[in-house]
Amino acid sequence: MLAVSEPDVSPSVLVPVGQTGVHYEIFVRSFADSNGDGIGDLNGITNNLDYLKDLGVSAIWLMPISPSPTYHKYDVTDYYSIDPEYGTMDDFKRLIYEAHRRSIAVIIDLVLHHTSIRHHWFQESAKGPDNPYRKFYNWLHPHEIKARKLATRDITADSGERNPWHSVKGSTSPEQYYGMFWSGMPDLNFDYPPLREEIFTIVRYWLNDIGVDGFRLDAARHLYREAEEPKNHAFWEEFGRVVETAKPGAYSVGEVWTRPERIAPYFRGLKANFNFDLQLMIPEIIRREDDTEDLIEFMAYVHGAFANVNPQFIDGLILSNHDQNRIGSLLKGNLNHLKVAANLLLTLPGLPYLYYGEEIGMLGMKPDEHIREPFLWDTRDQDRQRTRWRRGTYTTSQTVNPLARQQADPDSLVNHYKQLINFRNSHPVLNDNLSRLEQTGIRQKGTVSFIRRSGNGQRVLVVHNLTRNPIEVVFSPGETWCQRVVFATALGSSVSDNRVLIPGYGCVVLE
Ligand code: NOJ
Ligand code: CA
Repeated sequence: MLAVSEPDVSPSVLVPVGQTGVHYEIFVRSFADSNGDGIGDLNGITNNLDYLKDLGVSAIWLMPISPSPTYHKYDVTDYYSIDPEYGTMDDFKRLIYEAHRRSIAVIIDLVLHHTSIRHHWFQESAKGPDNPYRKFYNWLHPHEIKARKLATRDITADSGERNPWHSVKGSTSPEQYYGMFWSGMPDLNFDYPPLREEIFTIVRYWLNDIGVDGFRLDAARHLYREAEEPKNHAFWEEFGRVVETAKPGAYSVGEVWTRPERIAPYFRGLKANFNFDLQLMIPEIIRREDDTEDLIEFMAYVHGAFANVNPQFIDGLILSNHDQNRIGSLLKGNLNHLKVAANLLLTLPGLPYLYYGEEIGMLGMKPDEHIREPFLWDTRDQDRQRTRWRRGTYTTSQTVNPLARQQADPDSLVNHYKQLINFRNSHPVLNDNLSRLEQTGIRQKGTVSFIRRSGNGQRVLVVHNLTRNPIEVVFSPGETWCQRVVFATALGSSVSDNRVLIPGYGCVVLE
Protein backbone atom coordinates (compact mmCIF):
# COMPACT_ATOMS: atom_id res chain seq x y z
CA MET A 1 0.00 0.00 0.00
CA LEU A 2 1.30 3.49 -0.86
CA ALA A 3 1.91 5.87 1.98
CA VAL A 4 0.37 9.11 0.72
CA SER A 5 -2.94 9.95 2.42
CA GLU A 6 -5.60 12.51 1.59
CA PRO A 7 -3.45 14.79 -0.55
CA ASP A 8 -5.00 18.19 -1.15
CA VAL A 9 -3.16 19.15 -4.28
CA SER A 10 -2.62 16.76 -7.14
CA PRO A 11 0.37 17.10 -9.42
CA SER A 12 -0.90 17.97 -12.88
CA VAL A 13 -0.98 15.79 -15.98
CA LEU A 14 -0.20 16.84 -19.50
CA VAL A 15 -3.03 18.93 -20.92
CA PRO A 16 -4.93 19.01 -23.16
CA VAL A 17 -5.67 15.40 -22.20
CA GLY A 18 -6.16 13.07 -25.15
CA GLN A 19 -4.09 14.88 -27.76
CA THR A 20 -1.29 12.40 -27.15
CA GLY A 21 -1.01 8.99 -25.54
CA VAL A 22 -2.99 5.78 -25.14
CA HIS A 23 -5.97 5.30 -22.81
CA TYR A 24 -6.88 2.20 -20.79
CA GLU A 25 -10.44 1.26 -19.80
CA ILE A 26 -10.92 -0.45 -16.43
CA PHE A 27 -13.90 -2.36 -15.05
CA VAL A 28 -12.96 -1.72 -11.44
CA ARG A 29 -14.84 -4.74 -10.07
CA SER A 30 -12.72 -7.12 -12.17
CA PHE A 31 -9.32 -5.46 -12.18
CA ALA A 32 -7.51 -5.88 -8.86
CA ASP A 33 -8.66 -6.63 -5.31
CA SER A 34 -6.66 -4.91 -2.56
CA ASN A 35 -8.48 -6.12 0.59
CA GLY A 36 -9.27 -9.76 -0.08
CA ASP A 37 -13.05 -9.44 -0.35
CA GLY A 38 -12.89 -10.65 -3.94
CA ILE A 39 -14.17 -7.40 -5.46
CA GLY A 40 -11.85 -5.19 -7.44
CA ASP A 41 -11.41 -1.75 -5.90
CA LEU A 42 -9.79 1.65 -6.24
CA ASN A 43 -6.80 0.76 -4.06
CA GLY A 44 -6.27 -2.25 -6.33
CA ILE A 45 -5.84 0.16 -9.24
CA THR A 46 -3.53 2.43 -7.24
CA ASN A 47 -1.38 -0.58 -6.36
CA ASN A 48 -0.97 -1.34 -10.06
CA LEU A 49 -0.26 2.11 -11.46
CA ASP A 50 3.37 1.13 -12.00
CA TYR A 51 2.22 -1.73 -14.23
CA LEU A 52 0.11 0.70 -16.27
CA LYS A 53 2.94 3.21 -16.42
CA ASP A 54 5.32 0.52 -17.62
CA LEU A 55 2.79 -0.54 -20.26
CA GLY A 56 2.87 3.10 -21.37
CA VAL A 57 -0.70 4.28 -20.88
CA SER A 58 -1.34 8.00 -20.41
CA ALA A 59 -4.86 7.85 -18.96
CA ILE A 60 -7.21 5.41 -17.29
CA TRP A 61 -10.97 5.44 -17.86
CA LEU A 62 -12.82 3.94 -14.92
CA MET A 63 -16.24 2.48 -15.60
CA PRO A 64 -18.77 3.84 -13.07
CA ILE A 65 -17.57 4.11 -9.48
CA SER A 66 -20.54 5.83 -7.80
CA PRO A 67 -23.04 3.97 -5.61
CA SER A 68 -25.40 1.72 -7.54
CA PRO A 69 -27.48 -1.41 -6.93
CA THR A 70 -26.09 -3.29 -9.96
CA TYR A 71 -22.76 -5.07 -10.43
CA HIS A 72 -21.83 -2.78 -13.36
CA LYS A 73 -22.98 0.46 -11.66
CA TYR A 74 -24.44 2.13 -14.76
CA ASP A 75 -27.49 3.11 -12.68
CA VAL A 76 -26.31 5.66 -10.16
CA THR A 77 -27.98 6.39 -6.82
CA ASP A 78 -25.62 9.18 -5.69
CA TYR A 79 -23.49 11.23 -8.06
CA TYR A 80 -21.32 12.64 -5.26
CA SER A 81 -19.75 9.58 -3.71
CA ILE A 82 -17.96 6.30 -4.30
CA ASP A 83 -19.65 2.91 -4.04
CA PRO A 84 -18.33 1.39 -0.77
CA GLU A 85 -17.65 -1.85 -2.67
CA TYR A 86 -14.89 0.05 -4.47
CA GLY A 87 -13.57 2.13 -1.55
CA THR A 88 -13.89 5.69 -0.29
CA MET A 89 -13.53 9.16 -1.71
CA ASP A 90 -10.16 9.38 0.03
CA ASP A 91 -9.08 6.23 -1.79
CA PHE A 92 -10.15 7.84 -5.03
CA LYS A 93 -8.27 11.07 -4.29
CA ARG A 94 -5.19 9.04 -3.52
CA LEU A 95 -5.60 7.16 -6.81
CA ILE A 96 -5.79 10.48 -8.66
CA TYR A 97 -2.76 11.80 -6.80
CA GLU A 98 -0.66 8.72 -7.51
CA ALA A 99 -1.80 8.56 -11.13
CA HIS A 100 -0.93 12.21 -11.69
CA ARG A 101 2.45 11.67 -10.07
CA ARG A 102 3.07 9.20 -12.91
CA SER A 103 1.60 11.55 -15.54
CA ILE A 104 -1.45 9.34 -15.93
CA ALA A 105 -4.78 11.15 -16.28
CA VAL A 106 -7.94 9.85 -14.64
CA ILE A 107 -11.18 9.83 -16.64
CA ILE A 108 -14.46 8.70 -15.10
CA ASP A 109 -17.58 7.31 -16.69
CA LEU A 110 -20.35 9.86 -16.25
CA VAL A 111 -23.81 8.37 -16.57
CA LEU A 112 -26.01 11.41 -17.06
CA HIS A 113 -28.61 9.97 -19.36
CA HIS A 114 -30.47 8.11 -16.59
CA THR A 115 -30.30 7.39 -12.89
CA SER A 116 -31.19 4.35 -10.84
CA ILE A 117 -34.84 4.09 -9.78
CA ARG A 118 -33.37 4.18 -6.28
CA HIS A 119 -31.88 7.64 -6.78
CA HIS A 120 -33.67 10.08 -4.46
CA TRP A 121 -34.63 12.26 -7.45
CA PHE A 122 -36.60 9.36 -8.85
CA GLN A 123 -38.01 8.30 -5.49
CA GLU A 124 -39.35 11.83 -5.12
CA SER A 125 -40.46 12.14 -8.74
CA ALA A 126 -42.46 8.92 -8.48
CA LYS A 127 -44.52 10.33 -5.62
CA GLY A 128 -46.83 12.11 -8.02
CA PRO A 129 -47.37 14.97 -10.49
CA ASP A 130 -47.02 17.68 -7.83
CA ASN A 131 -43.64 16.62 -6.53
CA PRO A 132 -40.86 19.21 -7.11
CA TYR A 133 -38.73 16.48 -8.75
CA ARG A 134 -41.51 15.28 -11.09
CA LYS A 135 -40.03 16.98 -14.14
CA PHE A 136 -36.57 15.51 -13.59
CA TYR A 137 -37.94 12.53 -15.52
CA ASN A 138 -40.38 12.04 -18.40
CA TRP A 139 -43.89 11.08 -17.29
CA LEU A 140 -46.88 10.62 -19.57
CA HIS A 141 -50.39 9.35 -19.27
CA PRO A 142 -50.91 6.11 -21.27
CA HIS A 143 -53.50 7.92 -23.46
CA GLU A 144 -50.91 10.45 -24.46
CA ILE A 145 -48.25 7.81 -25.09
CA LYS A 146 -50.68 6.12 -27.46
CA ALA A 147 -51.93 9.32 -29.10
CA ARG A 148 -48.37 10.52 -29.76
CA LYS A 149 -47.37 7.05 -31.06
CA LEU A 150 -44.58 6.78 -28.50
CA ALA A 151 -45.45 3.37 -27.05
CA THR A 152 -42.63 1.44 -28.71
CA ARG A 153 -39.12 2.24 -29.86
CA ASP A 154 -36.87 0.62 -32.47
CA ILE A 155 -34.04 -1.31 -30.90
CA THR A 156 -30.55 0.17 -31.24
CA ALA A 157 -27.06 -1.34 -30.98
CA ASP A 158 -27.01 -0.27 -27.35
CA SER A 159 -30.54 -1.12 -26.20
CA GLY A 160 -32.90 -3.95 -27.00
CA GLU A 161 -35.78 -2.32 -25.06
CA ARG A 162 -38.89 -2.07 -27.30
CA ASN A 163 -41.35 -0.92 -24.63
CA PRO A 164 -39.72 2.02 -22.89
CA TRP A 165 -42.69 3.21 -20.78
CA HIS A 166 -42.86 1.74 -17.29
CA SER A 167 -45.35 1.88 -14.43
CA VAL A 168 -44.54 2.50 -10.79
CA LYS A 169 -45.90 -0.31 -8.65
CA GLY A 170 -48.49 0.86 -6.14
CA SER A 171 -48.62 4.42 -7.52
CA THR A 172 -51.89 6.35 -7.36
CA SER A 173 -51.01 8.17 -10.60
CA PRO A 174 -51.56 6.30 -13.89
CA GLU A 175 -48.64 8.13 -15.52
CA GLN A 176 -45.72 6.07 -16.74
CA TYR A 177 -42.02 6.99 -16.91
CA TYR A 178 -39.64 6.61 -19.84
CA GLY A 179 -36.58 4.37 -19.55
CA MET A 180 -35.00 3.34 -22.84
CA PHE A 181 -32.57 0.80 -21.35
CA TRP A 182 -34.86 -0.90 -18.80
CA SER A 183 -37.26 -0.05 -16.03
CA GLY A 184 -34.41 0.28 -13.49
CA MET A 185 -32.83 3.13 -15.49
CA PRO A 186 -35.30 6.03 -15.86
CA ASP A 187 -34.20 8.62 -18.44
CA LEU A 188 -33.63 12.14 -17.14
CA ASN A 189 -35.47 15.09 -18.67
CA PHE A 190 -32.90 17.41 -20.21
CA ASP A 191 -35.57 19.93 -21.19
CA TYR A 192 -35.93 20.89 -17.55
CA PRO A 193 -33.47 23.68 -16.61
CA PRO A 194 -33.18 22.75 -12.88
CA LEU A 195 -32.08 19.24 -13.96
CA ARG A 196 -29.44 20.69 -16.26
CA GLU A 197 -28.13 22.82 -13.41
CA GLU A 198 -27.84 19.73 -11.20
CA ILE A 199 -25.94 17.98 -13.99
CA PHE A 200 -23.46 20.83 -14.37
CA THR A 201 -22.93 20.99 -10.61
CA ILE A 202 -21.99 17.30 -10.74
CA VAL A 203 -19.58 17.98 -13.62
CA ARG A 204 -17.83 20.79 -11.74
CA TYR A 205 -17.67 18.73 -8.57
CA TRP A 206 -15.67 15.90 -10.17
CA LEU A 207 -13.40 18.20 -12.15
CA ASN A 208 -12.70 20.86 -9.55
CA ASP A 209 -13.37 19.42 -6.10
CA ILE A 210 -12.14 15.89 -6.77
CA GLY A 211 -9.63 16.47 -9.58
CA VAL A 212 -10.54 14.11 -12.42
CA ASP A 213 -9.26 14.96 -15.89
CA GLY A 214 -12.36 14.29 -17.90
CA PHE A 215 -15.30 12.07 -18.63
CA ARG A 216 -16.56 9.23 -20.79
CA LEU A 217 -20.15 10.15 -21.52
CA ASP A 218 -22.49 7.21 -21.38
CA ALA A 219 -25.34 6.94 -23.90
CA ALA A 220 -24.58 10.45 -25.17
CA ARG A 221 -26.88 10.21 -28.17
CA HIS A 222 -29.93 9.22 -26.19
CA LEU A 223 -30.59 12.25 -23.99
CA TYR A 224 -33.33 13.05 -26.45
CA ARG A 225 -35.24 10.73 -28.74
CA GLU A 226 -33.97 10.28 -32.31
CA ALA A 227 -36.61 12.68 -33.64
CA GLU A 228 -35.08 15.41 -31.49
CA GLU A 229 -31.42 14.63 -32.12
CA PRO A 230 -30.32 18.27 -32.68
CA LYS A 231 -31.21 18.87 -29.02
CA ASN A 232 -28.60 16.26 -28.08
CA HIS A 233 -25.98 18.11 -30.08
CA ALA A 234 -26.92 21.40 -28.44
CA PHE A 235 -26.76 19.92 -24.96
CA TRP A 236 -23.25 18.55 -25.52
CA GLU A 237 -22.11 21.91 -26.85
CA GLU A 238 -23.24 23.49 -23.63
CA PHE A 239 -21.62 20.67 -21.69
CA GLY A 240 -18.33 21.23 -23.56
CA ARG A 241 -18.34 24.89 -22.55
CA VAL A 242 -19.02 24.05 -18.91
CA VAL A 243 -16.16 21.53 -18.86
CA GLU A 244 -13.68 23.85 -20.55
CA THR A 245 -14.53 26.69 -18.18
CA ALA A 246 -14.29 24.47 -15.12
CA LYS A 247 -11.00 22.84 -16.14
CA PRO A 248 -9.32 24.01 -19.33
CA GLY A 249 -7.87 21.08 -21.27
CA ALA A 250 -10.09 18.49 -19.61
CA TYR A 251 -11.15 15.59 -21.80
CA SER A 252 -14.50 14.27 -22.96
CA VAL A 253 -15.29 11.18 -25.02
CA GLY A 254 -18.79 10.28 -26.10
CA GLU A 255 -20.45 6.94 -26.48
CA VAL A 256 -22.39 7.74 -29.63
CA TRP A 257 -23.01 4.27 -30.90
CA THR A 258 -24.14 4.83 -34.46
CA ARG A 259 -22.90 5.57 -37.99
CA PRO A 260 -20.03 8.06 -38.44
CA GLU A 261 -22.21 10.67 -40.18
CA ARG A 262 -24.42 10.73 -37.09
CA ILE A 263 -21.43 10.82 -34.74
CA ALA A 264 -19.91 13.87 -36.42
CA PRO A 265 -22.17 16.59 -34.90
CA TYR A 266 -21.21 15.45 -31.40
CA PHE A 267 -17.70 16.77 -32.02
CA ARG A 268 -19.14 20.27 -31.61
CA GLY A 269 -19.18 19.72 -27.88
CA LEU A 270 -17.11 16.61 -27.20
CA LYS A 271 -13.41 16.31 -27.89
CA ALA A 272 -13.54 12.63 -28.82
CA ASN A 273 -16.05 9.96 -29.79
CA PHE A 274 -15.56 6.23 -30.21
CA ASN A 275 -15.35 4.80 -33.72
CA PHE A 276 -17.66 1.79 -33.52
CA ASP A 277 -17.75 0.97 -37.23
CA LEU A 278 -13.97 0.78 -37.42
CA GLN A 279 -14.08 -1.61 -34.48
CA LEU A 280 -16.28 -3.94 -36.54
CA MET A 281 -13.99 -3.84 -39.56
CA ILE A 282 -10.68 -4.51 -37.86
CA PRO A 283 -11.31 -8.14 -36.80
CA GLU A 284 -12.80 -8.90 -40.23
CA ILE A 285 -9.72 -7.92 -42.18
CA ILE A 286 -7.42 -9.60 -39.68
CA ARG A 287 -9.33 -12.88 -39.89
CA ARG A 288 -9.30 -12.78 -43.69
CA GLU A 289 -5.66 -11.64 -43.76
CA ASP A 290 -6.68 -9.18 -46.43
CA ASP A 291 -8.07 -5.65 -46.37
CA THR A 292 -11.37 -6.62 -47.96
CA GLU A 293 -13.09 -3.67 -46.30
CA ASP A 294 -10.84 -0.90 -47.63
CA LEU A 295 -10.12 0.23 -44.12
CA ILE A 296 -8.13 3.35 -44.94
CA GLU A 297 -10.56 4.63 -47.51
CA PHE A 298 -13.33 4.21 -44.95
CA MET A 299 -11.29 5.99 -42.30
CA ALA A 300 -10.45 8.85 -44.65
CA TYR A 301 -14.16 9.29 -45.35
CA VAL A 302 -15.01 9.22 -41.64
CA HIS A 303 -12.26 11.66 -40.72
CA GLY A 304 -13.45 13.99 -43.48
CA ALA A 305 -16.93 13.98 -41.93
CA PHE A 306 -15.53 14.60 -38.43
CA ALA A 307 -13.16 17.35 -39.60
CA ASN A 308 -16.02 19.21 -41.26
CA VAL A 309 -17.56 19.67 -37.85
CA ASN A 310 -14.38 20.10 -35.80
CA PRO A 311 -10.86 20.00 -37.26
CA GLN A 312 -9.53 19.21 -33.77
CA PHE A 313 -11.59 15.99 -33.51
CA ILE A 314 -10.10 12.99 -31.73
CA ASP A 315 -11.10 9.60 -33.15
CA GLY A 316 -11.44 7.09 -30.27
CA LEU A 317 -10.08 3.78 -31.58
CA ILE A 318 -11.14 0.53 -29.94
CA LEU A 319 -10.72 -3.19 -30.58
CA SER A 320 -13.50 -3.93 -28.10
CA ASN A 321 -14.96 -2.54 -24.89
CA HIS A 322 -17.19 -3.62 -22.01
CA ASP A 323 -20.22 -3.84 -24.32
CA GLN A 324 -18.65 -5.94 -27.07
CA ASN A 325 -17.26 -9.40 -27.54
CA ARG A 326 -13.59 -9.34 -26.67
CA ILE A 327 -11.10 -9.09 -29.52
CA GLY A 328 -9.33 -12.12 -27.99
CA SER A 329 -12.40 -14.25 -28.73
CA LEU A 330 -13.20 -12.62 -32.06
CA LEU A 331 -9.72 -13.65 -33.19
CA LYS A 332 -10.02 -17.05 -31.48
CA GLY A 333 -6.97 -16.42 -29.32
CA ASN A 334 -4.68 -16.50 -32.40
CA LEU A 335 -1.53 -14.76 -31.12
CA ASN A 336 -0.36 -13.60 -34.55
CA HIS A 337 -3.75 -12.10 -35.30
CA LEU A 338 -3.90 -10.44 -31.89
CA LYS A 339 -0.51 -8.87 -32.56
CA VAL A 340 -1.77 -7.53 -35.90
CA ALA A 341 -4.77 -6.06 -34.07
CA ALA A 342 -2.41 -4.31 -31.66
CA ASN A 343 -0.27 -3.08 -34.58
CA LEU A 344 -3.30 -1.49 -36.20
CA LEU A 345 -4.76 -0.05 -33.00
CA LEU A 346 -1.50 1.63 -32.04
CA THR A 347 -0.56 3.06 -35.43
CA LEU A 348 -3.84 4.20 -36.99
CA PRO A 349 -4.55 7.92 -36.57
CA GLY A 350 -6.57 8.65 -33.46
CA LEU A 351 -6.50 7.91 -29.75
CA PRO A 352 -6.14 4.18 -29.02
CA TYR A 353 -8.09 2.62 -26.17
CA LEU A 354 -7.15 -0.67 -24.55
CA TYR A 355 -9.92 -2.48 -22.72
CA TYR A 356 -8.37 -4.03 -19.61
CA GLY A 357 -7.01 -7.49 -20.34
CA GLU A 358 -6.73 -7.01 -24.09
CA GLU A 359 -3.00 -6.73 -23.61
CA ILE A 360 -2.88 -10.28 -22.23
CA GLY A 361 -5.39 -11.64 -24.75
CA MET A 362 -8.34 -12.05 -22.38
CA LEU A 363 -11.32 -13.83 -23.92
CA GLY A 364 -15.05 -13.25 -23.60
CA MET A 365 -18.28 -13.37 -25.55
CA LYS A 366 -21.63 -11.92 -24.50
CA PRO A 367 -23.63 -11.91 -22.28
CA ASP A 368 -21.93 -8.92 -20.68
CA GLU A 369 -20.67 -10.61 -17.51
CA HIS A 370 -18.43 -12.79 -19.67
CA ILE A 371 -16.74 -9.86 -21.36
CA ARG A 372 -16.02 -8.31 -17.94
CA GLU A 373 -14.24 -11.21 -16.23
CA PRO A 374 -11.42 -11.02 -13.64
CA PHE A 375 -8.02 -9.88 -14.85
CA LEU A 376 -5.37 -12.58 -14.52
CA TRP A 377 -2.37 -11.18 -12.67
CA ASP A 378 -0.77 -14.56 -12.04
CA THR A 379 -1.51 -18.26 -11.97
CA ARG A 380 -4.39 -19.05 -9.60
CA ASP A 381 -2.27 -20.21 -6.63
CA GLN A 382 0.08 -17.22 -6.91
CA ASP A 383 -2.51 -14.54 -7.64
CA ARG A 384 -3.01 -12.35 -4.55
CA GLN A 385 -5.14 -9.72 -6.29
CA ARG A 386 -7.31 -11.64 -8.71
CA THR A 387 -10.93 -10.66 -8.17
CA ARG A 388 -13.43 -13.38 -7.27
CA TRP A 389 -16.80 -11.69 -7.74
CA ARG A 390 -17.34 -14.33 -10.43
CA ARG A 391 -15.22 -17.13 -11.82
CA GLY A 392 -13.86 -16.61 -15.28
CA THR A 393 -15.70 -18.70 -17.85
CA TYR A 394 -13.80 -17.59 -20.93
CA THR A 395 -10.65 -16.25 -19.28
CA THR A 396 -8.99 -18.79 -17.00
CA SER A 397 -5.37 -19.72 -16.32
CA GLN A 398 -5.93 -22.59 -18.77
CA THR A 399 -7.11 -20.42 -21.65
CA VAL A 400 -5.07 -17.23 -21.13
CA ASN A 401 -1.49 -16.94 -19.98
CA PRO A 402 -1.56 -14.70 -16.88
CA LEU A 403 0.32 -11.40 -16.86
CA ALA A 404 3.25 -12.55 -14.69
CA ARG A 405 3.98 -15.42 -17.10
CA GLN A 406 3.71 -13.17 -20.14
CA GLN A 407 6.01 -10.58 -18.66
CA ALA A 408 8.77 -13.19 -18.57
CA ASP A 409 8.26 -14.09 -22.25
CA PRO A 410 9.75 -11.65 -24.79
CA ASP A 411 7.34 -12.87 -27.51
CA SER A 412 4.20 -12.51 -25.42
CA LEU A 413 1.26 -10.32 -26.34
CA VAL A 414 1.81 -8.01 -23.38
CA ASN A 415 5.41 -7.39 -24.35
CA HIS A 416 4.28 -6.75 -27.91
CA TYR A 417 1.82 -4.11 -26.65
CA LYS A 418 4.47 -2.60 -24.43
CA GLN A 419 6.97 -2.32 -27.24
CA LEU A 420 4.42 -0.72 -29.57
CA ILE A 421 3.04 1.73 -27.01
CA ASN A 422 6.45 2.81 -25.85
CA PHE A 423 7.61 3.45 -29.41
CA ARG A 424 4.37 5.28 -30.14
CA ASN A 425 4.88 7.47 -27.05
CA SER A 426 8.39 8.37 -28.21
CA HIS A 427 7.47 9.34 -31.76
CA PRO A 428 6.14 12.84 -32.42
CA VAL A 429 3.86 11.84 -35.31
CA LEU A 430 2.58 8.50 -34.03
CA ASN A 431 1.91 10.00 -30.62
CA ASP A 432 0.04 12.95 -32.11
CA ASN A 433 -3.59 11.85 -31.83
CA LEU A 434 -4.60 14.81 -33.99
CA SER A 435 -2.22 13.89 -36.82
CA ARG A 436 -4.12 13.50 -40.07
CA LEU A 437 -4.59 10.52 -42.34
CA GLU A 438 -3.36 10.55 -45.93
CA GLN A 439 -3.78 7.73 -48.39
CA THR A 440 -0.87 6.06 -50.18
CA GLY A 441 -0.62 4.78 -53.73
CA ILE A 442 0.27 1.31 -52.43
CA ARG A 443 -2.35 -1.28 -53.37
CA GLN A 444 -0.94 -4.67 -52.49
CA LYS A 445 -3.00 -7.63 -51.42
CA GLY A 446 -2.56 -8.55 -47.77
CA THR A 447 -1.37 -5.11 -46.72
CA VAL A 448 -2.73 -1.95 -45.13
CA SER A 449 -0.74 1.22 -45.61
CA PHE A 450 -1.28 4.86 -44.78
CA ILE A 451 0.49 8.11 -44.08
CA ARG A 452 0.05 10.19 -40.96
CA ARG A 453 0.92 13.86 -40.99
CA SER A 454 1.31 16.14 -37.99
CA GLY A 455 0.35 19.80 -37.88
CA ASN A 456 4.03 20.77 -38.34
CA GLY A 457 4.20 18.83 -41.63
CA GLN A 458 6.21 15.89 -40.27
CA ARG A 459 4.91 12.57 -41.63
CA VAL A 460 5.38 8.82 -41.46
CA LEU A 461 4.37 5.94 -43.69
CA VAL A 462 2.98 2.91 -41.88
CA VAL A 463 2.69 -0.46 -43.63
CA HIS A 464 1.09 -3.58 -42.17
CA ASN A 465 1.43 -7.13 -43.43
CA LEU A 466 -1.79 -8.99 -42.53
CA THR A 467 -0.55 -12.32 -43.84
CA ARG A 468 1.74 -15.04 -42.52
CA ASN A 469 4.27 -14.67 -45.37
CA PRO A 470 6.80 -11.86 -45.86
CA ILE A 471 5.66 -9.26 -48.40
CA GLU A 472 7.82 -6.94 -50.41
CA VAL A 473 5.87 -3.71 -50.65
CA VAL A 474 6.70 -1.45 -53.57
CA PHE A 475 6.34 2.29 -53.01
CA SER A 476 4.29 4.31 -55.46
CA PRO A 477 5.78 7.62 -56.68
CA GLY A 478 4.07 9.36 -53.74
CA GLU A 479 6.13 7.46 -51.15
CA THR A 480 9.65 7.83 -52.51
CA TRP A 481 10.43 10.19 -49.60
CA CYS A 482 10.54 7.12 -47.35
CA GLN A 483 14.18 6.34 -46.72
CA ARG A 484 14.42 4.43 -43.49
CA VAL A 485 12.57 2.14 -41.15
CA VAL A 486 12.24 3.84 -37.76
CA PHE A 487 10.21 1.07 -36.14
CA ALA A 488 9.42 -2.54 -36.93
CA THR A 489 7.54 -5.11 -34.89
CA ALA A 490 9.72 -7.95 -36.15
CA LEU A 491 13.31 -8.40 -37.23
CA GLY A 492 13.97 -8.54 -40.94
CA SER A 493 12.40 -5.33 -42.24
CA SER A 494 14.52 -3.41 -44.70
CA VAL A 495 14.16 -0.70 -47.34
CA SER A 496 15.92 -0.72 -50.68
CA ASP A 497 15.11 0.52 -54.18
CA ASN A 498 11.78 2.01 -53.26
CA ARG A 499 10.52 -1.12 -51.62
CA VAL A 500 10.28 -2.44 -48.12
CA LEU A 501 10.30 -6.03 -46.96
CA ILE A 502 7.84 -6.77 -44.15
CA PRO A 503 7.89 -10.08 -42.29
CA GLY A 504 4.63 -12.01 -41.83
CA TYR A 505 2.16 -10.29 -39.46
CA GLY A 506 4.64 -7.42 -39.15
CA CYS A 507 4.30 -3.68 -39.24
CA VAL A 508 6.84 -1.01 -40.14
CA VAL A 509 6.98 2.73 -39.70
CA LEU A 510 9.04 4.66 -42.23
CA GLU A 511 10.31 8.20 -42.53
C1 NOJ B 1 -23.91 2.07 -22.32
C2 NOJ B 1 -22.94 1.38 -21.45
O1 NOJ B 1 -21.72 1.24 -22.09
C3 NOJ B 1 -23.59 0.08 -21.09
O2 NOJ B 1 -22.68 -0.80 -20.54
C4 NOJ B 1 -24.69 0.45 -20.16
O3 NOJ B 1 -25.38 -0.68 -19.72
C5 NOJ B 1 -25.67 1.38 -20.86
N1 NOJ B 1 -25.01 2.45 -21.54
C6 NOJ B 1 -26.61 2.00 -19.89
O4 NOJ B 1 -25.89 2.84 -19.02
CA1 CA C 1 -11.90 -5.43 -2.69
